[in-house]
Amino acid sequence: MELIEAIKGRRSVRFYEDLPVPRETLEELISTGIYAPTGSNLQPWGFAVVEDKQLMQKWSDRAKESMLGVIDEKPQLQRYKALLQNKEFNIFHGAPCLLLIYGSITSTNYIYDCSMVAQNIMLAAYEKGIGSCWIGFATALGNSPDIKEMLNVPGEYNLVAPLVLGYPRRKHAAVPRKEPVMFNWV
Ligand SMILES: Cc1cc2nc3c(=O)[nH]c(=O)nc-3n(C[C@H](O)[C@H](O)[C@H](O)COP(=O)(O)O)c2cc1C
Repeated sequence: MELIEAIKGRRSVRFYEDLPVPRETLEELISTGIYAPTGSNLQPWGFAVVEDKQLMQKWSDRAKESMLGVIDEKPQLQRYKALLQNKEFNIFHGAPCLLLIYGSITSTNYIYDCSMVAQNIMLAAYEKGIGSCWIGFATALGNSPDIKEMLNVPGEYNLVAPLVLGYPRRKHAAVPRKEPVMFNWV
C-alpha cells in the first residue's frame, strides 16, 4: 500500500469483529511504531496491552461514571452527555485489544513523541487490514494510580495514547477535512 493512500484512507473504527489480533502482529505494530522521530532521541515511550474484554467493560463503565461525575464543570464534555449515559455504549467500541502508549514525563517532548508513535501504529495497522481508534475517553482512567500499578507502569509515565485495535466489522465513510487554514506564505 502506498503511504499516501494509507494516510488518506485510515479512519477511526468503532465497530469490531470479535476476533483477537495475533500477538506477533501487535508486537510488529509496536516495533514499527517506534520508528517515529523523538525529541533528543529519548524514545520516552512504554506500552501496555489489554485484551481482557471483561476488564475493558469494567474500565469503560468506570470511565463513563467518572466523566459523568464532572460533566457539568466541563463544557467540552457536554456534547457527549447522552452517549456517556447510554448503558450500551462502551468507550472501547467492543474492540478486542487496547494498546496504551505511555510517555516518560522526564522528557519534555513525551506527548509529541508518543503521539507520533500512535499515528505510525494506526497507519501500519491500517495497511494490515486492522482498524484502530484513539480513545481519549480512556486517558484519565489509564493515568489512575491503581491501573498504572496493575499494569506495572512506573509513576513517572503518563498515558498519552490509548488506542483500540481490531478487525473492522464495517467500512467507515471518509470524514471530510476542513480546508487547511493558511496564515501566510511569505
Ligand atoms: C486525541 C484524540 C482523542 C480521541 N478520542 C476519541 C474517543 O474517545 N472516542 C472515539 O470514538 N474517537 C476518538 N478519537 C477519534 C476522533 O474522533 C477521530 O480521529 C476524528 O473524528 C476524525 O475521524 P478519522 O480518525 O476517522 O479521520 C480521538 C482522536 C484523537 C486524536
